[in-house]
Amino acid sequence: MKPEIIITGKGHAGTQATLREEFTCHDLFEAADKESFLKGLSSKVRALATFGHMPVNGNLMDALPKLELISNFGVGVDVINLEDAKARKIIVTNTPDVLNECVADTAIALVLCALRKLPQSDAYLRAGSWAAKGPYPLATSLGGKTLGILGLGRIGEAIARRATAMGMKIRYHNRRKKDVPHPYDPDPVALARNSDVLMIVTPGGAETKNLVGAKVLDALGPKGYVCNIARGSVIDEPVLLRYLQEHKIAGAGLDVFADEPRVPPEFFKLDNAVLFPHVGSATVETRKAMGDLQIENLRLHFKGKPVATRVV
Ligand code: 8YV
Repeated sequence: MKPEIIITGKGHAGTQATLREEFTCHDLFEAADKESFLKGLSSKVRALATFGHMPVNGNLMDALPKLELISNFGVGVDVINLEDAKARKIIVTNTPDVLNECVADTAIALVLCALRKLPQSDAYLRAGSWAAKGPYPLATSLGGKTLGILGLGRIGEAIARRATAMGMKIRYHNRRKKDVPHPYDPDPVALARNSDVLMIVTPGGAETKNLVGAKVLDALGPKGYVCNIARGSVIDEPVLLRYLQEHKIAGAGLDVFADEPRVPPEFFKLDNAVLFPHVGSATVETRKAMGDLQIENLRLHFKGKPVATRVV
């Protein structure tokens, strides 16, 4: 008998195909009436394979009293209520490390695109403006600039290595100072004040909601750039939009948004922002590695072994 699991959202095709081979899968995201879907499965389902943004809270956990494991596709578990899981002795796993290098590549791409305005220069050429108006206006160099990393974890360190190789200086802020060679700032405002580019790499969730708002952006100043590879919730998005419109900061590179996949269309009109559709880890190789780890956690658990990457 294959263990019964629920898949919460549409996600990486290869991973979902393997899940369907190894487990009896029920697709919550396809269910028209979620309540009766859950009722019908309440005595059977022992795990969730979570994909995407659907909140996983105590109500959902209570609807599935046999639930033992929530195995998330992705390192960020901000949509899963960890306290609710802990209280019900439900294990939560994620997919850390396998995506570090890929997400760090995207972070550097955001910095390059924001400072050098590379997507805008591509659009300039395609519009025929190079021939019609002459060279694209000069942009801003990365070398010698300071990259302030808000959240120096494993991804932050991979970003720091790349930025160092490109001649940038690194500073950081975490809740706790780390044993690293980079200067530490005691809060996000101080970090922004001391940085040319602020790179957000903190986890999402209630603790970091709107952590980057007017005070931090004021400290960054009209020559400063903000890049976000973490979660849209970490930035106060309406404030960021206004600061970009009014040129109170120089620019932004954003891979994440508050209400994905919806992005306020006012952002599309900005020449000082580059916008990626949450592609931080979006390569064939990395998404396969994330899926393999998600599946491995399920396999280990159902073999009665400790999971590989436990969050709670
Ligand atoms: C993915 C991510 O976009 O790992 C995360 O936390 O945000 C990304 O790698 C996501 O998990 C895939 O849906």
